[in-house]
Amino acid sequence: MSDPPPRRRGAEAPTFWRTGRSYRAPLLVTAFPPEVPFGFLGRLIPTHETTEFSAEAHRIPSAQALELLYGARAVAEAELATGGNGGRTAELEVERTSAAELGQAVARRTQELWRVGLRFVVLASNRPQAESKRTRLVERLSEIGFRSRVPVYEVRESLQPPDLSGTEPRPSGYWHTLPTDGVAALFPFGDETVVEPAGTLLGLALSDASPVFFDRWSHASYSWGLFGTTGSGKSFAAALLLLRTRWLRPETTIAVLDPLGEYTTWIESLGGSVVHVADGAGGRLNPLDPVTTAGDRREKAARVGTMLRALFPSLRDEEVAELDAAVTRLYEQGPDVPTFSDLADVIVGRGAASSRLATLLEVFRSGSLRGLDGPTTARPTETVVSVDFRGVPDDQLPFHLTYVLDWAYGRLAERAGPKILLVDEAHLLARHAATEEFLDRVVRHVRHFDAGLMVLTQSPEDFLARPSGRSFLRNLYAAAFLRLPQVSAETREFFGLTAAEAEWLSRARLPRETGYAESLWRIGELHLPLAVVASTPEFEFLEATLGHPRPSARDPPSPPKGGL
Ligand SMILES: Nc1ncnc2c1ncn2[C@@H]1O[C@H](COP(=O)(O)OP(=O)(O)O)[C@@H](O)[C@H]1O
Ligand SMILES: [Mg+2]
Repeated sequence: MSDPPPRRRGAEAPTFWRTGRSYRAPLLVTAFPPEVPFGFLGRLIPTHETTEFSAEAHRIPSAQALELLYGARAVAEAELATGGNGGRTAELEVERTSAAELGQAVARRTQELWRVGLRFVVLASNRPQAESKRTRLVERLSEIGFRSRVPVYEVRESLQPPDLSGTEPRPSGYWHTLPTDGVAALFPFGDETVVEPAGTLLGLALSDASPVFFDRWSHASYSWGLFGTTGSGKSFAAALLLLRTRWLRPETTIAVLDPLGEYTTWIESLGGSVVHVADGAGGRLNPLDPVTTAGDRREKAARVGTMLRALFPSLRDEEVAELDAAVTRLYEQGPDVPTFSDLADVIVGRGAASSRLATLLEVFRSGSLRGLDGPTTARPTETVVSVDFRGVPDDQLPFHLTYVLDWAYGRLAERAGPKILLVDEAHLLARHAATEEFLDRVVRHVRHFDAGLMVLTQSPEDFLARPSGRSFLRNLYAAAFLRLPQVSAETREFFGLTAAEAEWLSRARLPRETGYAESLWRIGELHLPLAVVASTPEFEFLEATLGHPRPSARDPPSPPKGGL
C-alpha cells in the first residue's frame, strides 16, 4: 500500500495557522448573551467575507444532565450562602434559578442539555487581513452580547476537526453546555414552513439568502401589514408583492387606496383604471350609494355615520345624534340611491335649517365637496383599479378614505376569485375612533369572500392606542417591519419582538443605501429577517411607474425633459 498523498500541512503560529498563502485564524466564544438574537450568524458574517463557523452538538444523557444542573445549582447556592462573592449575588441568583428551572424542564423532557463545540475560523490570504477580519468579528460579536477570545498557542487544538466523540480536549471557549433552546438558536437557517408551495417570493433570508415563499391564501387571515418609516420601501414592497401575486394568479383582483397618488401610473401600466377623487376624473363615487352594502340600508346608514364623523370631528354629541337620526331616516324613507342633497333636505326638513349641521352639510352643495353630490358614475370593470386622493386637503383625507374603503369593500364582496385591497398611509384611518373601528371590521370580514388587505403605515403605534386598532393589528396574519427609527416597549410586547430585533429595526438598511429593503417579517409565530429584493425587470418596471403621481392641475408645469 502506498502512503496517502502528502497533505499540505502548514505551520502553526501563535494565533493562526498558515498553509502557503492561506491563513486560518480561529476565534472561540467565551460567553453568550442572555438572549441570542435571531439570525445572528447572518449579522456576524457578512456575505462578502468567507468565515467558517462550525458547531457540533452532543446530547447529554438526562441523568447526567440532571446531575450537572443539580451541581450548578448547589455551587451557586453555596457561593450565595458564604457571602463575599465579589458583588456577584444577582448573577448567582439567576444561575440558581435557571439551573432549577432547567432541571425541571429536563425532568419533564421538554428540554435537554447538549455539549456543544463552537468555533469561528477567519480565512484570509495574508496575515494583516486575517487579523483585521478577526478583530471586526470580535467587535460584531460583542455588539450582540457575545464574548470571545483568540486562542494563543492553542491554534492546533482549536482547529483540529471534531473527532465525533464530543470528549476530546479543546481550548477553553470551545465546549459549552447549552439547553435545547440555546442549540436551536444556533441554527437560524431556512425554515421549511415558509417555503410554501404555490407561494409568492417574499424575499431572501438575511441569514443565508435562501428564498422565502409564502402562500397568502393558505392561512387564517389573508391580510398583512407593512410598517416602516418614509422611504423604507413599503409602497415598493407592496407593489412588488402584488405583481408577483398576479403573475401566479392573473385573475387576482386588486384595488388600491392611494392617498399620495403614487400608484396611478403603475395601475394604468397594468391595464387598470384610476378614479381621482379631487377633481372627479375617472368618475364620481357617491358615498351614499347603498350598493356598497349590497342594499343593506341599515348597515349603509351606520357607515355613512362613520364617514361623516371623520369629516366633521368637531361635532357635539347632540349634533351626532341629530345627524344619525337624519341618516337613518334618509335610508328608511329616502330615495333608493340618496345623494348629499337628499341628506341636507332631511336635515332641513327636521327643522334644523339654521343649525350648524345644516351649515356643515353645505360643503356638499356649494362647497369643496359638491362634486360628490350626485349618483355614482365611476364603474370600473378592470380587475385592477386604484383611487387616487392626490389634491385632497389633508383634513378631508380620512373622510375620503372611509367612503372609498366602503366602496372597495362592496366591490371585493361582489367579485369572484382572490382579491387584495391595498391601503397605503393607513394611519389616516387611525385618526378617528369610528374609522379605525370600520377598518377593523373590514379586516375581520374580507376573509369571508377570499379577500385580504395589505395595509401600509409608518408605525404600528398608529394603531396601538385603541382596542379597535389592536384588534385590527391582531387580524393581520403577517406583519413586515422595515426600518423603524423607534420601537416602543408597547410595540415590542404586542408583536413579541425581542430587544435585539427592536434595536436592529432602527438600523435596518434602507433601499436607497443598499438597493433592497431590509425587513423583519412576523408570520404567525415565525420571525424572519428578509431582504425584499426585486429582480432587474421588476425593479425597472416599478422604478418607471411607481411614485409618479399624475401632475395635478395645481402643479406648476414641469420643464420639458432633456434628451435628443
Ligand atoms: N426593495 C427595493 N428594492 C429597490 N429599491 C427600492 C426597494 N424599496 C424601495 N426602493 C426605492 O426606495 C424608494 C422609496 O421607497 P418607497 O416604497 O416609496 O418607501 P415608503 O413607501 O416606505 O415611503 C422607491 O422609490 C424605490 O426607488
Ligand atoms: Mg409609500
